[in-house]
Amino acid sequence: MAVYVTGDTHGSIDLAKLRPRRFEAGSRLTKDDYVIVAGDFGLVWDGSPSELETRDWLDARPWTTLFVDGNHENHELLASLPVEKWHGGLVHRVSGSILHLMRGQVFDLDGLSVFAMGGAESVDRQWRVPYRSWWPEEIPNADERALAETNLAARGWRVDYVVTHEAPYRVLDLMYGDDQAASDEFPRWLDGIASRLTFDVWYFGHHHIDENHGEYQACYEGIYPLGETEPLPVVDSWLPRER
Ligand SMILES: [Fe+2]
Repeated sequence: MAVYVTGDTHGSIDLAKLRPRRFEAGSRLTKDDYVIVAGDFGLVWDGSPSELETRDWLDARPWTTLFVDGNHENHELLASLPVEKWHGGLVHRVSGSILHLMRGQVFDLDGLSVFAMGGAESVDRQWRVPYRSWWPEEIPNADERALAETNLAARGWRVDYVVTHEAPYRVLDLMYGDDQAASDEFPRWLDGIASRLTFDVWYFGHHHIDENHGEYQACYEGIYPLGETEPLPVVDSWLPRER
């Protein structure tokens, strides 16, 4: 089994990193291998024909796509999808091989445990329309946080890997210092989790940058083998090798 983690895809906008010419290793994978998107997946948005076409393209890739939710998701539509138990945790099934890793769940992937926690605050909220392009559910509520804590306590506060959309406050502090655009309320909750949890690597998206801070890895364009903080080498994406 191979597992990779990458950053926000935003529907089709940032999906090119998963095309064969940018992700050659992907063509050797099977449906028992996984690519995890660290939020702002964006292909459960409006159900438009172009969205469904893009989703079909992704579904037809050799691997299974997993994602935690970001802030730029249609949380209402996501919540309407069927829930099922999958590898020890709960998922929304988007299609045959696209699954949403629900908040606060711990998954077992071939003996490796992965804690998933979507959600973040939109810094562009003022330009968005509630329930059309922005949902208050973007920030995990008290029940979702409590569930996460219960599930982690059941694991003795020890997992192999963490995938979130937002980063713990300590990492934002390293990245931005006092220059933070969003509220620090949810990052501070994540920070509490980080203090209690033993893990190897914590991957997060949201910040649209590939940046390493020790065991914390910000992901955007990079595709990281699970457990590593060095992304796969990028094949020259401008060579005319599109398949
Ligand atoms: Fe994003």
